[in-house]
Amino acid sequence: MINRQNINIGLFGFGVVGKGLWDVLEQTPGLKANIRRICVKNHDKPRPIDLKYFTFEKDELLFDPGINIIVELIDDSEAAFEIVKVAMSNGKGVVSANKKMIAEHLEELLDLQKKYQVPFLYEAACCASIPIIRNLEEYYDNDLLVSLAGIVNGSTNYILSKTAEDKISYEEALMLAQQKGYAESNPALDVEGYDAKYKLTILLAHAFGITAEPEQIYNLGIQRLGPMELRIAAEKSYKVKLIAQACRLSDNKVAAFVMPQLVNEKSLFFSVNDVFNGVQTETSFADKQFFMGKGAGAFPTASAVLSDISALTYDYRYEYKKMAQQSSCLSNDFLIDVFVRYNNTGDVPSSDFISVTEKYKSLEGNYIVGKIHFEKLINSDWAKNPDISILLTSATVPQTVELSV
Ligand code: HSE
Repeated sequence: MINRQNINIGLFGFGVVGKGLWDVLEQTPGLKANIRRICVKNHDKPRPIDLKYFTFEKDELLFDPGINIIVELIDDSEAAFEIVKVAMSNGKGVVSANKKMIAEHLEELLDLQKKYQVPFLYEAACCASIPIIRNLEEYYDNDLLVSLAGIVNGSTNYILSKTAEDKISYEEALMLAQQKGYAESNPALDVEGYDAKYKLTILLAHAFGITAEPEQIYNLGIQRLGPMELRIAAEKSYKVKLIAQACRLSDNKVAAFVMPQLVNEKSLFFSVNDVFNGVQTETSFADKQFFMGKGAGAFPTASAVLSDISALTYDYRYEYKKMAQQSSCLSNDFLIDVFVRYNNTGDVPSSDFISVTEKYKSLEGNYIVGKIHFEKLINSDWAKNPDISILLTSATVPQTVELSV
């Protein structure tokens, strides 16, 4: 077990979050945590602290017997996985914020934790400052979790808020999100919904005991949203939010996807703006609960890393209890309500829908509103057309389908 008075950290990466952690630790005298060495990739980048801390050799951290915690905050998910593997095999506790790496290697990371019996914590990988993983881990044991839905990406929420409220352009809002250190270095991961999907993959393990491959989860980001549907949303006092959700369909089947959604003021997500994230859980007995906090940026993310470092000193580790209790798997067999905007070059046939409540055609564009089988939607050619925008219109629990075939 790591002694609270003797925490020696080997830090990988000194970007927004790495520097944030440095600053946060300087302001946390209660925790005697010392960053002993920092491994970085870029030889030319100016560093804001004494150069004596830096190295370009990962083994100087991974094989240093004086280092008892490896904190991995780099961008490259494959390099991150290699670092985590070696660190664990050397008996070091590991803290990571790398959602892509964790989502893509979840099974292997579970095996490594079992094999080496070392803790691996990653609260900062989901919703930054919101302690959602630990809540899912420790709670909802007997009161069955029915659903989980969240704004889990700070950058896209910031972009959607700024374009709707401050009337700045999408490009300008994205640039601001990058300048503030919210966006991924490849911002396509944010705006196309991949970052949200990686986070949902991780949350599924802790909420429902499911180890899914990210490819199994459908993700649509905010990149297809156009002026027509944004105008209609504003006129009807709706906001557009990118929501990752998972919902129990039956005892062992769970629906999971990331899609933009129209929300009205009755939704708790309506008031989650700028870089804030919000997660709503629903259980059989407790009904709804809501967690909210800053979802990106140096200090909110570093605060979660700090909390994990502290948790290692009392030997906290994830138990993945739901995996032992339940054997759930993902299913695409359910219905959703959608608004689909398209132009005259890509038709969206009404016959693909279970029911259509509205169909509109104009020079500006066309739209169709209706209920569709999820599997049908994600496999249709039109849904793959980047000029066609699809938004969820209802936050209700997806209905399972009673197929008449
Ligand atoms: N790019 C991520 C986001 C960073 O905007 O939410 C935090 O995970």
